[in-house]
Amino acid sequence: MNDRVPLLTSKNVVKRYQMADTAIDVLKGVDLELMAGERVAIVGRSGSGKSSLLHVLAGLDEADAGEILMAGESMTGADNETRTALRGSSMGFVYQQHHLMPEFSALENVALPLRLNGLARKDAEQRSSALLSKVGLEARLGHLPSELSGGERQRVAVARALVHQPKLVMADEPTGNLDDASAQELMALMVELSDAHGVALLVVTHDRSMLGYFDRVLALSEGQLTTMPPGGG
Ligand SMILES: Nc1ncnc2c1ncn2[C@@H]1O[C@H](COP(=O)(O)OP(=O)(O)OP(=O)(O)O)[C@@H](O)[C@H]1O
Ligand SMILES: [Mg+2]
Repeated sequence: MNDRVPLLTSKNVVKRYQMADTAIDVLKGVDLELMAGERVAIVGRSGSGKSSLLHVLAGLDEADAGEILMAGESMTGADNETRTALRGSSMGFVYQQHHLMPEFSALENVALPLRLNGLARKDAEQRSSALLSKVGLEARLGHLPSELSGGERQRVAVARALVHQPKLVMADEPTGNLDDASAQELMALMVELSDAHGVALLVVTHDRSMLGYFDRVLALSEGQLTTMPPGGG
């Protein structure tokens, strides 16, 4: 519970995609410190490496060099099992596309992280249905993803990322496929849930109207993160 230790630290993180005859250096030394409860946006052009960065920070993909620490614990030094456990207990992820399990209902999708963390089905579904009510989907619990609207699917994905009460939720353009009003609603909802539970948010967005929700805005360019002046850039 040391407030001085950043929740997430990235030190000189490098990511390279090696192709047959070329290599793409996407991340060229990314430094980041995210404090508990902090809300940070990441902006950058298409192809600048935002998704790659989030995936590497979340341990969904491996960095080629550098170090990532979660609450002071090294993710990059850990073996796969430890990393998965660390991610399962302390992180939630909202993908650029919702990535819900197509054969699972909304309720089962949200309950999944809890089930994976060992919670009994009844308790997992109770907590999940309470959270789905909070995001306005109490009447859609039994719907499959294909039986939900795009905005509803994103709300399920947000609920799934938050249900196990992680310290950090990373979201990759969570409002990218939504109309303006639904996008604002979803972002406001994420902020509300982050406030209520002290969850830090690291969110990729290209939508400037979202930036007011964040404590800081960072720009990814030329493989590095830089701070954007408030309201400018
Ligand atoms: N698995 C991969 N193998 C090879 N190259 C990849 C791979 N994934 C991404 N890239 C390349 O790395 C660069 C960064 O991709 P990334 O998806 O991180 O960008 P992005 O900033 O999220 O873009 P967008 O805003 O369009 O989502 C792109 O040029 C992409 O073509
Ligand atoms: Mg992307």
